[in-house]
Amino acid sequence: MLGEDEMREPIKKFTKMLHGGDYNPDQWLDYPEILIQDIELMKKAHVNCVSLGIFAWATLEPEEGIYQFDWLEEIINNLYNEGIYTVLATPTGAMPNWLTEKYEEVRQVRDNGARNLHGARHNFCFTSPIMREKARNINTALAERFGNHPGVILWHISNELGGNGNDSSCHCPLCQAAFRDWLKNKYKTLDALNHAWWTKFWSQAYTSWDQIHSPVPNGLTTVHGLNLDWKRFVTAQMVDFYKEECNIVKKYSKDIPVTTNMMGFFKCLDYFKFKDSLDIVSWDSYPSWHEEKNDIDVAIYTAASHNLMRGIKKQPFLLMESTPSLVNWKVNNTLKRPNMHMLSSMQAVAHGSNSVQYFQWRKSRGASEKLHGAVVDHYGKEDTRVFKDVTEVGCRLENLTESIYKTINKPKVAIIVDWENWWAIDDACGVNNSDMKYIDTVVNHYKPFWKMGIDVDFIDMDTDISEYKLVVAPMTYMIKEKFGEDVKVFVENGGCFVSSYWSGIVNETDLCFLGGFPGIIGEVVGIRSEEIDAINEYYPNSISYKNKSYEVNDLCDLIHLQGAKAEAFYEKDFYKGMPALTRNQYGSGIAYYIAARTENEFNEEFYSNIVNEIGIEKNINVNLPYGVTVSKRCGEEDDLLFVQNFNSEPVSFELDRQYENAEDGTVVSGRLELTAYDCLILKDKK
Ligand code: GAL
Repeated sequence: MLGEDEMREPIKKFTKMLHGGDYNPDQWLDYPEILIQDIELMKKAHVNCVSLGIFAWATLEPEEGIYQFDWLEEIINNLYNEGIYTVLATPTGAMPNWLTEKYEEVRQVRDNGARNLHGARHNFCFTSPIMREKARNINTALAERFGNHPGVILWHISNELGGNGNDSSCHCPLCQAAFRDWLKNKYKTLDALNHAWWTKFWSQAYTSWDQIHSPVPNGLTTVHGLNLDWKRFVTAQMVDFYKEECNIVKKYSKDIPVTTNMMGFFKCLDYFKFKDSLDIVSWDSYPSWHEEKNDIDVAIYTAASHNLMRGIKKQPFLLMESTPSLVNWKVNNTLKRPNMHMLSSMQAVAHGSNSVQYFQWRKSRGASEKLHGAVVDHYGKEDTRVFKDVTEVGCRLENLTESIYKTINKPKVAIIVDWENWWAIDDACGVNNSDMKYIDTVVNHYKPFWKMGIDVDFIDMDTDISEYKLVVAPMTYMIKEKFGEDVKVFVENGGCFVSSYWSGIVNETDLCFLGGFPGIIGEVVGIRSEEIDAINEYYPNSISYKNKSYEVNDLCDLIHLQGAKAEAFYEKDFYKGMPALTRNQYGSGIAYYIAARTENEFNEEFYSNIVNEIGIEKNINVNLPYGVTVSKRCGEEDDLLFVQNFNSEPVSFELDRQYENAEDGTVVSGRLELTAYDCLILKDKK
């Protein structure tokens, strides 16, 4: 178990805010002048760290078992001599031709049974013993050579695991066999599996383990327990592959922590399952700035994504990739407007990132990323808007490093986001089969807190909730048994719990709870849900709450009070007058149940009432203007408040008291003026 200090400082070799990004010099080995120029430009841009070797397998091992590492060593040395550190990748993100040509089994089989040809990336079979052996060999060689290099500060395992544009899985015979073993280990007997999956339905009962196949379109897709377990298996197998990579590199480099770059709300892999084998979380963030009329919703979604990534370990994380200007894979790739690069970078820091890293340092000369944003353009010089923007971020991080590095957000509010629940909801075949909007709903419940300037952790159902004052669990359709117990204890001991419609329907193998919904949390919330209505434009509804009417959408739960008190009521249709929001005193805490899909206006009113009722402090005690939020990173001596304006216009508001500008030490009080896309960092002395 790591001590508190170590937890905050997994990267012991270079305890500073990192600034840099993916550097692919293997594409430029024939251009020595470019490699020299790169380091000169990096120094100018205040880059202190780059990620090397992410897709360099073919250059590192051009033929099976023949390693060519001298070029890499020279680059790591040259960088280190100039004070630039290396995040060293294992190269399994993309496989070399010799590997896929010689060993068919390393290529994934798709859910239509076809084996992939060579090409693309993130597409190895994670079960293949040969793939594991080849990965082990190159990782061993890399770790032996560079594991103790003073310039190497962090291992970057593979790249965006599972991001194959498919469903992250491989359906080859090896994976089928591994899946069966995984199931045997989980259920022990076929009887237990048949019961857990309810396979008597449509005569699907298995009489031999060998009959089990992954869910595929031309096979079985209607057994939800199977679908859910397959997704769990895919995560477990990926974690297992990832751990094998970690174990090797750690064996030869005991002081170097490991990470792998994640992708926020990426549905295919349950990132919380990586928690114990990650020293530090890192992720790649590509918000769609300027694609809508204003940037507020994108800012909130991005904030939620940062919180989710921070929530995995509840420690500072790394922004491993972001674009310094535009991407090249959206339909329409809009440039960042002036100040947005700084704001977007500072937003990540505000939410707990200890880095701002880019994809990529220099644009590739050819292939599909030649027009993707990069710090250095094909033009090749420093007098560009993007280079200046990047340099400004680098300077700012350098100046802030002392005050920020050892701080972390410590929210008193948590929102539950659980991958297994997400998978189960989307598979349910129930009240709505087009889009149950789970993640949208989670983000909608976060919005009011963002607007009030209150930090929130995003955690799964397995994470300890005892340290929070308020836990919001929207649409917990699948409730894990332990979470049900945790909620009981949490509320009994004085916590406030908010639940919603479409909760407590199934258990962990997707069997419906008998005896009424919301199953194992029914007692705590003090209601019983009898039916749920998918409303539409012909059957609209609304609810009255504290003498005001609010529209509701999509889903309306018809509930009965079983100890709880109603605080809002339906206003229309045959369930007019039935409770739409309930409050239950349970032990010394309170549990709310929101029966219908409510909109922002209601959510803002409701959560602001709760925040007042249970005494949750805003980061700055004022009503913030639209589009402005405040995040807080707490330190031992001072707290840092990041006041962020996502409006394309200046705004101002009256501060509640006096603060200090964390960057220039000036006193800040009275009216705070923020320019368009501004981020001010204030110090709140304890
Ligand atoms: C990331 C990936 C990078 C690069 C980038 C482009 O998902 O890890 O290698 O392709 O996207 O935006």
